This record gives sequence, C-alpha cells and structure tokens, in this order.
Amino acid sequence: MTSLHEIYARGIADGSLSHDAAQEAVLDEFERIRSAVSQPVKRGLFRKAPEPPKGLYLWGGVGRGKSMLMDLFVDSLGDIPARRVHFHAFMQEIHAGMHQARKAGVEDALSPVVAEVVKSLRVLAFDEMQITDITDAMIVGRLFEALFDAGVVVVTTSNRVPDDLYKNGLNRQLFLPFIELIKSRMVVRELASPRDYRQNRLEGAQVYFSPIGPDSRAAIEAVWQDLSGGPAEPLTLIVQKREVVLPAYRNGVARARFYDLCGKPLGPADYLAIAEAVRVLVLEDIPRLSRSNFNEAKRFVTLIDALYEARVRLVASAAAAPEMLYVEGEGIFEFERTASRLREMQAADWGSGAAPG
Ligand SMILES: Nc1ncnc2c1ncn2[C@@H]1O[C@H](COP(=O)(O)OP(=O)(O)O)[C@@H](O)[C@H]1O
Ligand SMILES: [Mg+2]
Repeated sequence: MTSLHEIYARGIADGSLSHDAAQEAVLDEFERIRSAVSQPVKRGLFRKAPEPPKGLYLWGGVGRGKSMLMDLFVDSLGDIPARRVHFHAFMQEIHAGMHQARKAGVEDALSPVVAEVVKSLRVLAFDEMQITDITDAMIVGRLFEALFDAGVVVVTTSNRVPDDLYKNGLNRQLFLPFIELIKSRMVVRELASPRDYRQNRLEGAQVYFSPIGPDSRAAIEAVWQDLSGGPAEPLTLIVQKREVVLPAYRNGVARARFYDLCGKPLGPADYLAIAEAVRVLVLEDIPRLSRSNFNEAKRFVTLIDALYEARVRLVASAAAAPEMLYVEGEGIFEFERTASRLREMQAADWGSGAAPG
C-alpha cells in the first residue's frame, strides 16, 4: 500500500498540490492511523482485538487544506471500511434515526442508531465538525463514546480547538466531558499553514460569467470541480425550525441555481444562515430581473447583502453584467448597490478576510 507521504509527493510532482511543510507534518498523523488500521485484525479465542489507534482532531483556519488532507487519507484506505461525511449531515442522520427509534417505542434511542452506523466500519471521517445546537451538544458525548467502544477510529476537521467547541452554548458544563473525551481518544493537531489555498485558487480567476450558455456552464463546472474536489452532498440547514436546502455542498463550497435560492419564499434569516455555512457560493443562471420577477429580485438583493457582509466568495453565471441585470421597474435604485457589490465581490482579494470597504 502506498503511504500518504508518497501520495502527497505525487500531487506535488503532477502540479496539483504545492508543497506545504505544515501539511506534510500533519501527514504523519494520518499515516500513523492508516498503517494501524491496515493491519489485518487477527481475532482468536484467546487473542483480544488490538486497541484501535487514537483518532485525529485536525483544526485550523479556513482554506489550509484540512479537508484535502482528510480526503487523501480516506482515499488511501482502499478496502478498509471507511466513511467520510459532513458532520452536520451526520448529526441530522442520527437525529432522524433516533426519532424513528422513539416512534417504535425504543427507550434508549441512540444505541440502535449507533449500532447501525458502526456496522463493519473502521474509520469515520467527519468534515467540519462544529457544535452550535443544544440537541447535538447533549448527545455527542454518548455518541462518540459508542463509536470508540465499537473500535471505530474517528478523524475530524474543525475550525476550532476542542476547548472552543460549543463555546458559550447553553448548559455548556454538561458538554465539557465530551471535550475531555476528544482529548483522550484523539490526537489534537493544528494545521498551521500560513496559506489560504482556497483564496489562492480563486485569486485572479474569473468568477462572474455572462451571458449564460455552454461557455459559462463549462467555466462554472471547472471552478466547481477544482474547489469542491470530490462528490458533493446536499446540505440542509435548519433555520427557525425550517429546512433550507443547498442542493450540493462540499469543502465549504455550495452550488445552487438562482431559482433554488431566490425562487422560493426564503428570507433574511435563511440567507444569513447560508452565508454563515459556506465560504464559496457557486450560483448559476441568474436571469434578467424586472417587474415580472420582482420577488426573486428582492430576495437576490438580500442574498447578496448577506454574502457580502460575511465576505463569502461568489462564483456566478448570469444573463448579463451586474449593472445590466435589473434595468427597469421598481427597486432600480436599491439594485444599484447590489450591482456594485457584485462588482466588488469579483475583486481578486475578495473574501481574504480584510474588512469590507
Ligand atoms: N498544498 C496545496 N496545494 C494546492 N492546493 C491546495 C493545497 N492544499 C489545499 N489546497 C486546495 O485549497 C482548497 C482549500 O482546501 P481545503 O482542504 O478545502 O481547506 P480547509 O478544509 O482547511 O478549509 C481546496 O480546493 C484544496 O484542494
Ligand atoms: Mg474544509
């Protein structure tokens, strides 16, 4: 089997990766796990299964390559049963399972759900672990305990150090044992790379394509492939108990069509939640806006404001240049600001963290 260092070196050799000492240092941890779980498990009457290796909690700033390294790791596992899943999507799955179990009259609803999840699973890789919701906070302790007991090795990426998880959350004292559990069962490492590669990848690249046609479609597809770096899943955000669905999401990048986000009765809270959940939004097929689609236009203004304030990167295809998108009807004046923001968001350094001017 090929070591992660070899796979990483291959990426550098073929130009898809640039060398990064901080990333390389973290590879040691992934390699430690890879080689441990690659050992065949020899179970015998008198032989106990070997202790599973400690997992890895990898944290650091955005765009540092956390998800990329985790993906390299998961891909390198070959036949070893592993699953890579967005943490938020996984928790929704757990809650849905528990809901079913309760309906069926099971008192301890978590146990059967975990049993199903860990069925012949050796490695569970969570992308973007964060805990903001009390319903998650109150079950993750037992959940992870059960995963570890089943011998599953957990690796996870996060923007926060474990001590900052669920920071200022309700009943946080009940959550603290979970932090201790993480520290004892997983190696905690920071990916302290000085570079934001996502920003680098988009720097100077065209991010606004018009008119809509085969060329813009192909261009958007190429940007999406480059940034998402693997198969996407839908991401469901819960906003005031309602579901807001981003049709495709991976690695901080979401992809949607104009009508997915602006053709439905969504409001400011929904757009704020979207802006908070993504680093880059790929928005396709923005039509010309006018009196006839005034509601869509109004929502689009709100969406762009939310993205702008959160300094989210926008990659878009549109029927016309920003200034020509909305040229007649009520709200033209309002739209001028949106057009100017759309321009500003195309700047090479947009989203790099500098305060909006
Ligand atoms: N060493 C590298 N060389 C080139 N591109 C990289 C490198 N590391 C990461 N990237 C790319 O930068 C983008 C952001 O990386 P990602 O792993 O998603 O960051 P994070 O998960 O830390 O936010 C991805 O498109 C990824 O493929
Ligand atoms: Mg990531």
